[in-house]
Amino acid sequence: MTSDIAMRPVLRWAGSKRQILPKLTGLAPEIKGRYIEPFCGSACLFLALHPNSAVLGDVNPHLIATYTALRDDPDAVSAILSRWPADKETYLSLRADFGRGDEAHQAARFLYLNRYCFNGVYRENLRGQFNVPYGGYRTGPMPNIDELRDFSARLQCAELYCGDFVGAIEDATADDFIYLDPPYYYGGARNRGEYGWNAFADADVERLIDAIAAASDRGARILVSYNRAHVLQKALPGWILTYAPVRRSVAGFANGRRSVREYQLRNYQ
Ligand SMILES: C[S@@+](CC[C@H](N)C(=O)[O-])C[C@H]1O[C@@H](n2cnc3c(N)ncnc32)[C@H](O)[C@@H]1O
Repeated sequence: MTSDIAMRPVLRWAGSKRQILPKLTGLAPEIKGRYIEPFCGSACLFLALHPNSAVLGDVNPHLIATYTALRDDPDAVSAILSRWPADKETYLSLRADFGRGDEAHQAARFLYLNRYCFNGVYRENLRGQFNVPYGGYRTGPMPNIDELRDFSARLQCAELYCGDFVGAIEDATADDFIYLDPPYYYGGARNRGEYGWNAFADADVERLIDAIAAASDRGARILVSYNRAHVLQKALPGWILTYAPVRRSVAGFANGRRSVREYQLRNYQ
């Protein structure tokens, strides 16, 4: 296992842990078996830890299909991506075609929309269509062919799993390390229709506690990021709580940003 924090994820992702990678890599144990990340999003900790064997899971089928296409044929994805200029008209026309075409086309379109959409968020309307407005180009360059090939090379060791987190960790054993980063809880009336796959309700937190307690009983080492860490800590006595300060955009604050704590809970020394 080596650390390569410099490698840029190919996707922008709401809730990315890129800002606290030094903290997370410092907390990660030596990995004898697999690195398992059931809420992988941009997979930035996977990229930083460079494990020999991994399971990357997410419930978002477009995300996992994009990673699968990149793993299997980054040149095909790049060739399509390079045809599209960075402008609003192209963005809106690609958004209207969301979900159409072969694997390479869909992956290229997902990368393009992710790069230029507002705030890098993933949201669908009630008909399951991606509906995030255009956000402009001040989002850093599109990953180039070398970056896509590097990313593809990293994914060769990974099983890509599309589905609920429980399925991704149910066979984890004592040699495995599991990093979980579920969507945070912000209260209010969130629902899957309005907020896409990023909704995570109280019932999901109960399921999360049951699944990680079972994996912990099997000996897996587990690290969890969550904003309501006290809820997990109450249900998982003896787990160790740590935090790292981060700068976050918060509505209602004068300059729009303030320092907040990112919590981590783990079941190993
Ligand atoms: C906070 S993001 C993960 C961010 C990631 N750690 C990173 O650094 O980019 C949470 C992810 O969980 C996924 N997700 C939401 N509900 C899920 C579920 N029930 N099972 C698996 N993944 C889920 C979302 O699609 C999203 O990609």
